[in-house]
Amino acid sequence: MHVRPAAAATAALLGLTLTLTVFGATAAAAAPGPDWLSGPTVYAHRGASAYAPENTLEAIDLAMGMGIEWVENDVQRTKDGELVVIHDDTLARTTDVEQVFPDRAPWRVMDFTAEEIRGLDAGSWFGPQYAGARVPTLREYMDRVQRNQQRLLLEIKKPELYPGIEEQTLRLLDGAGWLDEKHVSRRLVVQSFSAESVRVVHELRPDLVTAFLGTPPLADLPRYAQFTDRINPWYTTIDGEWVNAVHGLIGAHGKAMEVDTWIVDDAATARKVQDMGVDGIITNKPDIVRDAVGAY
Ligand code: G3P
Ligand code: CA
Repeated sequence: MHVRPAAAATAALLGLTLTLTVFGATAAAAAPGPDWLSGPTVYAHRGASAYAPENTLEAIDLAMGMGIEWVENDVQRTKDGELVVIHDDTLARTTDVEQVFPDRAPWRVMDFTAEEIRGLDAGSWFGPQYAGARVPTLREYMDRVQRNQQRLLLEIKKPELYPGIEEQTLRLLDGAGWLDEKHVSRRLVVQSFSAESVRVVHELRPDLVTAFLGTPPLADLPRYAQFTDRINPWYTTIDGEWVNAVHGLIGAHGKAMEVDTWIVDDAATARKVQDMGVDGIITNKPDIVRDAVGAY
């Protein structure tokens, strides 16, 4: 929970007391939680995607160069079962697929093999300096995040298109060394717009920190708190009262639920949501937001 500095000490004591008194042992910590003295956590949305092609290795490298630890991505699956990092369920907007495969409309990710996707240019649409950037496999992506010593907010995108993608994603994360205690407690959060998908992830790996993307009505929040730790809403849909209500609930790991909001790209809005008390801000311009809210 993000608390302004004046209230930080009190909140810290209250939080500690709550944890110790009500729950005994501390469950898996939702480690990314913001530093009370330095502002909300800043997440580079699809990497530093205002400045480099989204969801590429170049975009996370750029975020690293800006000193941004947390990156967000989107995971989908190819025709032959490879997990890849891409936002849209078609390849058309962010690659040259229409030129390379003109007869394959509507160019859905799920209709192309990993090898076909590997040959596409995922950078030129953004700018000539990024020509040759690729759609990374999730494994390549995890290895780069690891090499960069970054942390990951992983979104399972459109899970209704990819049966079993939750289990497959967790298997890959395990194989990449991302499900050990150190990663689970400090470096990884899994989110989705699908409550069912978040619930499945929680059941498969109860130690993982999870988030639901959306703005459920206040009355429904206790139901979400049974299987997730965070509610991550579009910034236009929230106010301070809603954020407070989320903070008032105990999430799946016995801690106050948190709120990471998206997509905030300007300083004034960043300060506005900071004043609402959000814990994190997901942004295409992590440098601007970090400077606005004093986060690291
Ligand atoms: O992380 C929040 C954000 O990614 C949700 O929207 O469409 O960019 O995946 P979208
Ligand atoms: Ca996303």
